[in-house]
Amino acid sequence: MDFITTKLLFFALLISSANALDPCASHRHNSDLSVIPIYGKCSPFKPPKHDSWFNIVIDMASKDPARFKYLSTLVAQKKTKVPIASGQHVLNIGNYVVRVELGTPGQVMFMVLDISNDVAWVPCSGCTGCSSTTFSPNTSTSYGSLGCSLPQCKQVRGLSCPARGTAACSFSKPYGGDSSFSANLVHDSLRLANDVIPNFAFGCIKSISGGSIPPQGLLGLGRGPMSLLSQSGARYSGVFSYCLPSFKSYYFSGSLKLGSLGQPKKIQYTPLLKDPHRPSLYYVNLTGVSVGRVRVPINPDFIAFNPNMGTGTVIDSGTVVTRFTQPLYEAIRDEFVKHVKGPFLTIGIFETCFDATAEIQPPSITLHFEGLSWTLPMENIYLHTSVGSTACLAIAPPPNNVNGALNTIANLQQQNHRILFDVPNSRVGITREVCN
Ligand SMILES: *[C@@H]1O[C@H](CO)[C@@H](O)[C@H](O)[C@H]1NC(C)=O
Ligand SMILES: *[C@@H]1O[C@H](CO)[C@@H](O)[C@H](O)[C@H]1NC(C)=O
Repeated sequence: MDFITTKLLFFALLISSANALDPCASHRHNSDLSVIPIYGKCSPFKPPKHDSWFNIVIDMASKDPARFKYLSTLVAQKKTKVPIASGQHVLNIGNYVVRVELGTPGQVMFMVLDISNDVAWVPCSGCTGCSSTTFSPNTSTSYGSLGCSLPQCKQVRGLSCPARGTAACSFSKPYGGDSSFSANLVHDSLRLANDVIPNFAFGCIKSISGGSIPPQGLLGLGRGPMSLLSQSGARYSGVFSYCLPSFKSYYFSGSLKLGSLGQPKKIQYTPLLKDPHRPSLYYVNLTGVSVGRVRVPINPDFIAFNPNMGTGTVIDSGTVVTRFTQPLYEAIRDEFVKHVKGPFLTIGIFETCFDATAEIQPPSITLHFEGLSWTLPMENIYLHTSVGSTACLAIAPPPNNVNGALNTIANLQQQNHRILFDVPNSRVGITREVCN
């Protein structure tokens, strides 16, 4: 039952068999991009010192409240179409990175994959406070800066530029609750696997403060005008999918697939919804949750998608543990404790940790979306601690002090599935795919 290894070098990545000698090399064909957990073996980032996967998840999930706050505060942005206006709390570090090349010749960067952000940004050489790997504009022949008067500048700033003409487009953003950066809007070639997107606009970071800025930047796959999808125009026709490997996976085995070619054919879909107040986010229609065979009782108003009330359910790549609104969370918890023998312990954010050696199998958890029911594999919903036989139901209520009207389907629950976003057809597909 204990599937945790205590000596966990977590995350790593496997590429294709063609690259068997170098598991950290990237795919070189089609538009598949490897996705690695940020502390994977081939990731340049060093993991925090922990002795178990459970602790690592707890640690990563400690960043969720700031992200959750970011996702929630977007609802206040009713006056601007761009969800990145200054002054809001911006989300915290994501947990998966993709390998890209920026500039000509290409400079390898490991950027955090973030489907709830639009604008990409990377630390540039000369940056104050950044870690060692930075993008060097001076050595790229395709680099250029973007002026203050361009419409893209207004989009990243959320307001017009005070300067005129060719002045640099400078903007700042808070990030992750405790950090911020300032950047200039620039453009250069972005290589994703074998595709090159010329003149890709992104923020070139000049200075950072705080410890939460992803060390090699962030690639936004949100739905807004500055995101990778928008900037790549017709090339990917608004379609992408990803498979996130387990946090424990050693190899670089997850993938981001861009475009409709090569996407799974046999996949069930649920409608993709759009909130005009939070246009970057991918909403789905969660209609209920079952614990075992019991559909938990919940007033439909508490989970219905309602842009005016700010309620609904988003799929997010950067939150670690799924958060349900308080009434839904309590309904699940109350049903769960009927299926499992107590006593129950609270560990970190998890209230319903239990002794997993008991003969009773914990119940399955099924998320019901319009047109699609998704029963989570046991390892996506139960986390085992490394000590003894304690396991926890890995869902949580909204963080304290956050107006928790949002349900957020997080990356722990999505691992080893392919999640397919088909924006033109307004649908999201989910299917099991083991990509460890
Ligand atoms: C690029 O090179 C110029 C001239 O050598 C230098 O002043 C500038 O700081 C460099 N910029 C960056 C971002 O490295
Ligand atoms: C969500 O699904 C339910 C059940 O199919 C449906 O009645 C409701 O209209 C859907 N909501 C939206 C916003 O599409």
